[in-house]
Amino acid sequence: MNVLIINGSPHSQGNTFLALQEMRKVLENNGVQVTMAHVGQQSIQGCTGCRKCRDTGRCVFDDMVNTLAPLLEKADGLIVGSPVYFASPNASLLALMDRLMFSTPFDKTMKVGASVVVARRGGLSSSFDVLNKYFTISGMPVVSGQYWNSVHGSAAGEVLKDAEGMQGMRTLAANMVFLMQSIQLGKEKYGLPEREKAVQTNFIR
Ligand SMILES: Cc1cc2nc3c(=O)[nH]c(=O)nc-3n(C[C@H](O)[C@H](O)[C@H](O)COP(=O)(O)O)c2cc1C
Repeated sequence: MNVLIINGSPHSQGNTFLALQEMRKVLENNGVQVTMAHVGQQSIQGCTGCRKCRDTGRCVFDDMVNTLAPLLEKADGLIVGSPVYFASPNASLLALMDRLMFSTPFDKTMKVGASVVVARRGGLSSSFDVLNKYFTISGMPVVSGQYWNSVHGSAAGEVLKDAEGMQGMRTLAANMVFLMQSIQLGKEKYGLPEREKAVQTNFIR
């Protein structure tokens, strides 16, 4: 089993990292191979909708998006973590996720997805919703935990005092392991569901 973690915080050792690290420990204790990538303080270009990726299978902006693409392709699960900025995920992370999910041509069906959000006080649920939508448009089952996968903290390290939030990270990781293992068994026994050729009506009738 293989999991890609994307830390959407500019702080590579901040609260989001600490929450993700709590998940990482549980995953690794269960034999899962984990890669954690940090968005960090890179300026990440947003998607320009040029659609060149439809011909080439990769993004025209040759940055972290194209480095992460093969890691996502081989992963059984994806975890995306973000600090809350004005009740949304971090903007650099969103730029990265838009381009990563749009430009990669491989099938993501039944790779599982989990999102984690971190804030001082508010905007957690709205940020959580945004991140989960990358999974549900891609045929990726969303892993759930014991709450809405959020941890509270302001200055780096404060999340460690949120015992309930950190327990939620461990529960989420344990559920993720179970779901990935179950899906692997299901794939072996039944195969992936057949897919119809995609129809796009674009609201034109
Ligand atoms: C630009 C900016 C906007 C923020 N907006 C919110 C917010 O809407 N709600 C909130 O509770 N905290 C907000 N915060 C606080 C961070 O979410 C919080 O400090 C978090 O723990 C930072 O995580 P990190 O250490 O992983 O970067 C904001 C912080 C910044 C820098």
